[in-house]
Amino acid sequence: MQTKRSYIDGVQPEAELLKEGAEWLRAGELVAFPTETVYGLGANALNDLACAKIFEVKGRPQDNPLIVHVCNRAMANRLVEAWTPVAELCVQHFWPGPLTLVLPKTAIVSNVVTAGLPNVAIRMPSHPVALRLIEAAGLPIAAPSANLSGKPSPTSGSHVWRDMKGKIPLILDAGACQVGVESTVLDVSGGVPTILRPGGISKEQLESILGEIQVDNPSECQVPKAPGMKYRHYAPRGELILMIGSTERIVQRMGNEIHRGHSRLKKVGVLCTLESAPFLHNRLPDLLFVLGSKEHLEEVASNLFEGLRLCDERGMDVILAEGVKEGGLGTAIMNRLQKAAGQRIQYVL
Ligand code: TXA
Ligand code: MG
Repeated sequence: MQTKRSYIDGVQPEAELLKEGAEWLRAGELVAFPTETVYGLGANALNDLACAKIFEVKGRPQDNPLIVHVCNRAMANRLVEAWTPVAELCVQHFWPGPLTLVLPKTAIVSNVVTAGLPNVAIRMPSHPVALRLIEAAGLPIAAPSANLSGKPSPTSGSHVWRDMKGKIPLILDAGACQVGVESTVLDVSGGVPTILRPGGISKEQLESILGEIQVDNPSECQVPKAPGMKYRHYAPRGELILMIGSTERIVQRMGNEIHRGHSRLKKVGVLCTLESAPFLHNRLPDLLFVLGSKEHLEEVASNLFEGLRLCDERGMDVILAEGVKEGGLGTAIMNRLQKAAGQRIQYVL
């Protein structure tokens, strides 16, 4: 398949490009589009065949449900059987934005989208291209992140191009995504609201409006409530080691690991904070990527997937990643890094 990559204005998207995207979506085809978190791979959420293509193109396990994106409340109402007071509060305070709500589904939402679950995950994105595209299509749009399964989520049009070229008819490219980590998935279907996946809206932000909430911790219960959380999202070709500790100790340990890697003829890449970078240059890693400042975790979040992808593209055998402090956006950043590291986490306190 020929893939067209159209550059679109992220603030005032061109009407004719939106129209083209909407036509493909209405015809049951897939369109990649930017959201404020990561790029999405969109399909008409009410068309099972179109949604099945998403799983095929991504190589996504069938038991991992899709988030449905809407552009207004009326559209959301068609998908949700019963709104809870907590869900209403979330809509008021966090939509449009990087918060996905899990609520009981209506009959029009098919089992292909929810992977057979009784609840549907819905979100109203804030990116103008996403909102206007859904509006132009006049349809709710099912969209996972627009990467191949097992790769980091795409945060730029180039990432999508590399993963989706030849597989879908259209990529709407509006450049880099602002947030850089995926939305927070929050179960508000009843009982205590529960975070199923940490993301762009922090637990602290949610608690300031909702009071105390819970976090689904898949290591404690056997089956995570968000099926996607059981997959090791990003399995880099290289071995990723996550290091947690003070700048001083991290620099020292990374220096040792770089030396060890080189003596085994391995290429060693480093993903670190702005604060550690000046001390790591002279340790001569094969790639040094600065994620951003410890004091500005929104920088780290927005650069994270770019850094991970770059390490693979440049053929790093070992990837040393510096952890950040948990809390706020730090929780989502650490969640993604921990998944990429698997069991390889070193505490260098
Ligand atoms: O920011 C985002 O959320 C991006 C953009 C494109 O909107 N989308 C995204 O989708 O990250 P995806 O498919 O990569 O991740 C969706 C997560 C998975 O962990 C999935 O298991 C969970 O949401 N999920 C989807 N529907 C669910 C449901 N009905 N109940 C529980 N979890 C659900
Ligand atoms: Mg994903």
